Amino acid sequence: MSMKLLVTGGAGFIGSNFVHYVYRERPDWQITVLDALTYAGNRANLDGLGESRVKLVVGNICDEKVVDTAVADCDAVVHFAAESHVDNSVHSPWPFVETNLVGTFRILEAVRKHKKRLHHISTDEVYGDLEPGDPKFSESTPYNPSSPYSATKAGSDHLVRAWIRSFGVQATLSNCSNNYGPYQHVEKFIPRQVTEILGGRRPKLYGTGENIRDWIHAEDHSSAILAILEKGKIGETYLVGVNAEKTNKEVLQLILKLMSKDADDYEHVSDRPGHDLRYAIDSSKIRNELGWQPKYTDFETGLADTVAWYKENEAWWKPQKEETEAKYKELGR
Ligand code: NAD
Ligand code: DAU
Repeated sequence: MSMKLLVTGGAGFIGSNFVHYVYRERPDWQITVLDALTYAGNRANLDGLGESRVKLVVGNICDEKVVDTAVADCDAVVHFAAESHVDNSVHSPWPFVETNLVGTFRILEAVRKHKKRLHHISTDEVYGDLEPGDPKFSESTPYNPSSPYSATKAGSDHLVRAWIRSFGVQATLSNCSNNYGPYQHVEKFIPRQVTEILGGRRPKLYGTGENIRDWIHAEDHSSAILAILEKGKIGETYLVGVNAEKTNKEVLQLILKLMSKDADDYEHVSDRPGHDLRYAIDSSKIRNELGWQPKYTDFETGLADTVAWYKENEAWWKPQKEETEAKYKELGR
């Protein structure tokens, strides 16, 4: 069935990967991206997509009128727009409260009024962190967020569930693990390290580097979202991950290997306050109930593709780099 999709935050990292994915996989769908183009959004992420099928509306999800107009004109909303970086949230929490909570409230009120389908994108960070031997996160793990970022994402999930139950909003939710791939802002771990090396500098590991993240390629996250949008059960939450737990040190040393550097050619920098130790996803529900399967099951292959993308796209990341490193310098990292 042909669909008019509204994608909030579609000029950001995962949102734009999703737009490219849907553009390829559903050639009869129309896509409107609603994005404020904050420091994290970039028009260039949508380059190469035909204007007859993909339209960018520059606007803020906290703006009631903008959201109302955009939602009225679509069949379904996939809601990615958020402030997404933990370090920024510890330094300056307000934009996180505004966008992640107030913005999600605006989206919910508009989908309620216009009776539109919503898929809300969230994160595994809402569950807090795990010790090394603990069982992985599942859909029934209690919420226990640690940072202003994860607390506001947790709050946005609670808003969505309240709107489903109290107002009958037709929504699904997903909580995914750490994404990597093209178009990720250089503030994030993998692109920061790759672009430090490309710029002739040493990569920076927080603390001991023993923290564990569960990595998924943004294309696999995109295929999971499309599966939930088309086959997911209203009111349900799906956890998305590919069983790829790695310590930060392991990831960094893989990057160093892929970029022909010595395994110890990096710096230890001060740790992130409140740094979550481990995230890990049990994705059996989406696999068993919706038949979803990832494509990138080998992390090193996906990482090699990503390193190659940053090598080939210096013109994309260079303009973000200086400002990002100036922010890190202020934080002593
Ligand atoms: P990102 O920071 O790369 O992109 C966010 C996008 O939202 C940007 O284009 C930005 O301009 C836009 N935006 C921000 N505030 C806005 C506002 N007020 N109005 C309209 N647009 C606004 O983020 P990302 O890493 O692509 O994450 C996207 C979503 O996925 C977020 O909801 C995040 O919580 C979730 N998520 C991210 C990861 C990850 O590893 N990056 C993992 C799981 C879930
Ligand atoms: O788990 C999903 C989450 O993953 C998403 O919800 C967030 O939006 C996304 O930013 C990501 O959060 P993390 O805090 O895990 O990602 P980040 O890339 O900031 O850091 C990954 C790990 O690497 C983390 O343990 C901190 C560490 N790190 C990060 C940077 C930027 C370093 O050691 N050095 C660095 O320079």
